[in-house]
Amino acid sequence: MPGLIIAIDGPSGAGKGTVSRAISEQLRYRHVDTGAMYRAVGWRVQRDGLALDDEPAAAAIARDAAIVVEGGVVSIDGIDVTREIRTPAIDTAAAAIARLPAVREALVARQRRLASGGGVVMEGRDIGTVVFPAADVKVYLDATPEERARRRATDASHTGGQAGTAAVAASIVARDRSDTTRAASPLTLAPDATYLDTTGLAVAEVVARVLALVQAKAAATS
Ligand code: DC
Repeated sequence: MPGLIIAIDGPSGAGKGTVSRAISEQLRYRHVDTGAMYRAVGWRVQRDGLALDDEPAAAAIARDAAIVVEGGVVSIDGIDVTREIRTPAIDTAAAAIARLPAVREALVARQRRLASGGGVVMEGRDIGTVVFPAADVKVYLDATPEERARRRATDASHTGGQAGTAAVAASIVARDRSDTTRAASPLTLAPDATYLDTTGLAVAEVVARVLALVQAKAAATS
């Protein structure tokens, strides 16, 4: 299998994390969760007591902090934040700093460096549109808001004591609005991406469909 770049985009709770991890394991590719990078920056902005719209300060963190997001562990400047970044407070902080163009510019540059040489599955919101418009395979995963809220509410890695699926659904709708209406790289379907509605599909089925796209691409390029 050649070192392809596989872009997996879509809203929260669409299954990007689970599917991207499975694909990367099967192909022995690196898996890069770009949402975790935005979350790590949001965490640091909060910890430092900065305003969520302080663009120069947040961009300096995005540019200069040591951010590691591989191997299931997320750290920023050597502090393991794997668990701390999966809370409702950081959902809000990450969505806020993700609106800031200077933050995006810094993280996109890092993401491009991380994938140099290919052999990567990168998940996010703008991977197929902005980070790698020429990605070899582009998939846009979606699911109904109800299904996404249900998945997020039962996601053991996402903590913070929200009051069940209704509260999660409200916060997902708010984040969808923030992610799709921001001026800088809004979440949108790339014209050449394969749209996959995962509502009611088993993870194995989604993984098989994405792997079929990858194999078709590999066969076409070899
Ligand atoms: O995928 P996630 O929920 O962990 O993402 C956290 C936030 O970061 C979310 O509000 C969307 C934003 N994000 C983004 O703007 N661009 C990306 N490539 C990845 C995430």
